[in-house]
Amino acid sequence: KPYVVGIDIGGTNTVFGVVDARGTVLYSSSIKTGKYADIEDYVAALGQGLMQVIEQAGGPEKIKGIGVGAPNGNYFNGCIEFAPNLPWKGKIPLAQLISEQVGGIPVALTNDANAAAIGEMTYGAARGMKDFIVITLGTGVGSGIVVNGNLVYGHDGFAGELGHVIVRRNGRQCGCGRQGCLEAYTSATGVARTAREYLEIRKDESLLRELDPSDITSKDVYDAAMKNDKLVLEIFETTGAMLGEAFANFVAFSSPEAIILFGGLTKAGDLIMEPIKHAMEANMLKVFEGKTKILFSQLKESDAAVLGASALGWEVKTQDPSL
Ligand code: BGC
Ligand code: NA
Ligand code: ZN
Repeated sequence: KPYVVGIDIGGTNTVFGVVDARGTVLYSSSIKTGKYADIEDYVAALGQGLMQVIEQAGGPEKIKGIGVGAPNGNYFNGCIEFAPNLPWKGKIPLAQLISEQVGGIPVALTNDANAAAIGEMTYGAARGMKDFIVITLGTGVGSGIVVNGNLVYGHDGFAGELGHVIVRRNGRQCGCGRQGCLEAYTSATGVARTAREYLEIRKDESLLRELDPSDITSKDVYDAAMKNDKLVLEIFETTGAMLGEAFANFVAFSSPEAIILFGGLTKAGDLIMEPIKHAMEANMLKVFEGKTKILFSQLKESDAAVLGASALGWEVKTQDPSL
């Protein structure tokens, strides 16, 4: 069987594609994740989309397996349990449900950021590295931690939830139910929220004053940055500084050779990179100073996660939802 399928489930979009052995995405498509309040409807829509790309590739008999990256995805049991940015709560045997939609093609599921780490390790910026961390900056903030060549799963399969380290005591409400998480500030939605807060006190200083505050998205913030909006440039400074401080802590934890950034917010380029590097080094423990690279993903926007997830499809191991 010459192909696998990779699926990247994000808080906003679900992207999937048929991938060949060299890591080329041949046929791909997407659906809107948030449109489906009901898991059955979501899985049915995904199944339909999957069958379309699978038919394009010559049918199910050409597919070795399917790999899925999902927020909160657990590689041990193929389930999601409590994804802060997905509409469905409770333990859901997603790998099994997807497999049922495509006539029993075997499906393996892992955390979406872990999938991105596999993508970077196999095809991207982390090739040849044994110790690195991928941080995904999208609707949520996720991480895939690789130590000595292996993804860290922890005893229950959920390890690597670095988006939910608390960076502000009694800080912003996070989708996970707690307060002050890194994600609440540095995700796409967190950045939009920062913009709204800034505008409340300093409206006159920004182009964003033209917009209805409640409609402001990270894209508006990014667009204003491209026009050199002073207030927005400050927002990137603050956001980058929070990430950099957190990264200095992550470095102390596993001494990665690199931290690789992936996801929508990386479009801001140096605007986010410079404050990250600066704050990381300024807060770094002496022994680690100047040793950790910060890199952007080399893979195209969504492909790292689709590719990383697809890599799981070559060797699907049984995932027992009862675990
Ligand atoms: C979830 C992670 C996920 C990340 C990115 C976070 O809110 O807890 O599991 O990797 O969002 O989707
Ligand atoms: Na992870
Ligand atoms: Zn949280």
